[in-house]
This record gives sequence, C-alpha cells and structure tokens, in this order.
Amino acid sequence: MQFVSTKGQIDKLSTPCLILPVFSKGKQTEVTDTFDQAHGKQISAVLKQGDATGKAGNTLLLQMPAGSKTKRVLLVGIGEQGKTTDVDFNKASSASINALKSLPIKSICSALLTVEVVDKNDDWKVRQLVLKSREALYQYTETLTTSAPDAYVLETCQLLVTSDSSAASIDKAATIASSIANGVDSAKKLANLPGNICTPTYLADTAQALGKEHKSLKVTVLDEAKMEKLGMGSLLSVSRGSREPAKLITMEHKGGPASQKPIVIVGKGLTFDAGGISIKPSAAMDEMKYDMCGGASVFGVMQMCAELNLAINVVGVVPSSENLPDGDANKPGDIVTSMAGLTIEILNTDAEGRLILCDALTYCAKFEPDVVIDIATLTGACVVALGKHATGLLGNNDELANELLGAGIKAGDKAWQLPLWDEYRPQLKSNFADLANIGGPAGGTITAACFLSRFTEDYKWAHLDIAGTAWKSGADKGATGRPVHMLSQFILDRC
Ligand code: BES
Ligand code: MN
Ligand code: ZN
Repeated sequence: MQFVSTKGQIDKLSTPCLILPVFSKGKQTEVTDTFDQAHGKQISAVLKQGDATGKAGNTLLLQMPAGSKTKRVLLVGIGEQGKTTDVDFNKASSASINALKSLPIKSICSALLTVEVVDKNDDWKVRQLVLKSREALYQYTETLTTSAPDAYVLETCQLLVTSDSSAASIDKAATIASSIANGVDSAKKLANLPGNICTPTYLADTAQALGKEHKSLKVTVLDEAKMEKLGMGSLLSVSRGSREPAKLITMEHKGGPASQKPIVIVGKGLTFDAGGISIKPSAAMDEMKYDMCGGASVFGVMQMCAELNLAINVVGVVPSSENLPDGDANKPGDIVTSMAGLTIEILNTDAEGRLILCDALTYCAKFEPDVVIDIATLTGACVVALGKHATGLLGNNDELANELLGAGIKAGDKAWQLPLWDEYRPQLKSNFADLANIGGPAGGTITAACFLSRFTEDYKWAHLDIAGTAWKSGADKGATGRPVHMLSQFILDRC
C-alpha cells in the first residue's frame, strides 16, 4: 500500500472512504467539524445517538448519500480530546484498516494525522500509522491453498495534511516508514515459513536474491568447509547433528564512506531447534521454527537499509543451522573448540544458540565494527523474566545499551536491560573446558549473555534476547517482525 500526503479540502474530497477521527469527550477536530458542517450535520447526529463512542479503536462505517464525492466515512475513536495517547493513536490506526478489510475499497483518505497526540510529532504519527496499517494488512499466504484468504485490495492511503504541516516532510516520513514495514514483512514471512522449507540453504539463497535486488548489498555465504578452515568448531558441532548443511551468511550495506566503521548486526538463524540429544518436550515444539527470528530480523533491517539507500555502513551476519538429535550430534559432556580458541563443555545440547553465535561473534571482528548487536531467541528464561512485551537487553557498553533502549521507546518496540555483572561468571565454570555452555537454572538469560560476552571483549557489544517478543503463540500464532523497528530506528538515528 502506498501512503501519500494530500492537502485537499475536507469538504471537497473525492474518495471511496474517508477516515475521520472522533473524540470520546470534548470538541471534535476541525476537519471532523468542517466535514460535518458540509454534510448536513450527519456526524453530529450519529455522535449524539451514541453509535460512535470515540473510545480508541471503536469504528463506525457510514454510507454517504448517492452523488457525494466522499462515498463512505469511517468514524474512528481516538480517545478524549487533548489526551490522545500513543496507545490510542496506534489502536485507531489498526482499527481503521481492520474495519475495511472485507470491503471492495482500493483507496482511502485518512485524517488521523490531524489529531494531536501527547508528546508525539508528525514524524512519529506517520510512522505508526503506516506500520500499524501494514501490520493489519499482513497476510501469511505462502503455504495456503484452499484456505487462503481473499487478497485485500487496499492500494493507496492518502494522508490528509492540514495547512501548517509540510507535505514534503510527511511524504518523507511515509517513505521511511514504508521501508521499515517492508523489512518487518520480510522478517515475518521468513520466520513464519516452516522448518522444512526455510532451511539454512533457503536463508542463504534468500540473501543472495536480496543482494541481486539491491546494488548497495554485497552478499557472501560461507559453507561448512570454509567455516572449518576458520576453526568454527562450536558452530559446526551444532550442525553436525543435522542433514542440512550450516551456512554463515553476510550482507554488507555500504552506504557510508569507506573509512566509516560499520554497525554489525548478528542474528541467530536456527531454522529448527529440537534441542538435539537434550531433546525438548513435544508440546509446542513446532514453535521452534521461530528460532531463526533473530536472523530474520537481520534480513529485514538490511532490506530497509538498502531500500532507503541509507548513508551508513551496516553489516548483517546470520549464522544458520538446525539443532536435531542424530548419531553424529553433540552429546552432553562433549567438548568443542571455538574459533576464538576457547574450549566449551556442552552440558546441554539445547543451549545451541550461544554455540553458533560465539563463532559468528568472533568472525565479526574482521569488519572492524563500531558496535556489534546480536539478536537471538536465546533463552526460555527471558520469557519468564520479561514476558512477551519487552526484549531482553544486555551488553558491555552502557552508552550503546541506552541508545538501543531509546530507539526502542521511540519505535514502540521496547527492550529492558538486565545486569551483566562479573558475579554471574562463575556459573559457567567447567572442570574440563574453559567454559560450560549452561549456567544452571538461576538467571538463565544473564548467564547466556555472560557466555557470549567472553567472545565480544574486543568491541562495543549489545545482546537482544527476543525469545518472548519475536512471535505470538495461540490463536494468532505468528511472527511479529520484532525488533526490526527498534533496530531501524537505531540506525536511522545514526544517519
Ligand atoms: N531457542 C531456545 C530458547 C527458547 C525457548 C526461545 C523457548 C523461546 C521459547 C534455546 O536454544 C534453548 O533451548 N535454550 C535453553 C537453554 C537452557 C538449556 C540453558 C532454554 O531456554 O531452555
Ligand atoms: Mn535450544
Ligand atoms: Zn535455540
């Protein structure tokens, strides 16, 4: 869907459907009032009757009289006048699209931007309106045949701009938001694919295709032989238990000067995690197809950088493997040697994410990074600690951590920091190797990050544990595309 600004007069608009905000209390917006005056006070009458409550997200569709240039009006509640919050605005944005999905409407005109939102500017409103609309429009179709839903036909959304806002800046914000939404959609699409389709090789092919599509992207894929040469004994030990060969995918966006040190983002690309010999219980094991969501978010962010041709250097790295039980799989007690030279005692083969990430993190040093951020569905403990709303954030540099926390708040894709103190380190002690791959039941998210921190000492690093935020379970099971928005904001803030 295309989002474009329009400065047309509200009472003379020609559109199949006008989205008009209504407050639950207080004086209505000027556009709603003007439209009302021009249309025989129909809106006032409807509001008086109590059919539209103005509660954020409440909707009511009105048909306009035959011959009217505006064919329909969708009244959308946006909370109390003067008190519209970010949450209210987001609800209204989603609801506007959801209410129209089943109608044969190809284009709409939204007046939601005319509403003042507490502490938020035009850029923010455009960003959320676009992202929430695109979220409402997202459809998984890849493996559906007879049960595939009818395709939505919404093609254009005009954004009504009042005289004091600049149409050019609204259009710019919409372009940026659309590219972030494209990144979110790509991440969701990859993540929702089943493990038998989305294998490490599939991800590698997807990266190559993305590289062909965008001039700024240079894509390289290392196969197992090349990883062996680099000494990635930890990563390769995980893929040994699988028939699908591991891949190490690198996507380099060169938009900044050659001398500029890149932001490196590393995403866990475990395309299916059965746990290995320390096998997982069967209940909900299907959801472990989502163990590549960190990798999927790297694809989404790289696509966003390339589409917008951002003037900055960003490198995306995705170590990808399966984790399955097999005669050749890791066994509890096995000891492997990482690329960094540290030996690791594998006490639980289900703590495989850190085993593939540690070698990828060592590999990253070759890009002489400014900062490295890894993104991983790393620990069930993170879901216990933070639930499904906040991404876990840990790292070795507070300035970087604060930058990410800030980007998350701006984007509405939030993280919460956990401590990474030295006190936790003894939990990873092994009698037979330099470190063990698990730290016991206490503080599982922290000891996982503690493990990774042993491989990131040479650069500024942050770790995002997205185990709780990357997908939803239950009736609306599906990927969320998080944290593409947070990372996009982080990168845009640095451009
Ligand atoms: N991919 C899982 C983490 C996970 C579990 C994410 C459930 C989302 C939901 C990871 O590889 C894993 O299995 N971690 C273990 C670590 C443990 C063995 C120390 C876990 O969290 O149970
Ligand atoms: Mn696991
Ligand atoms: Zn895993």
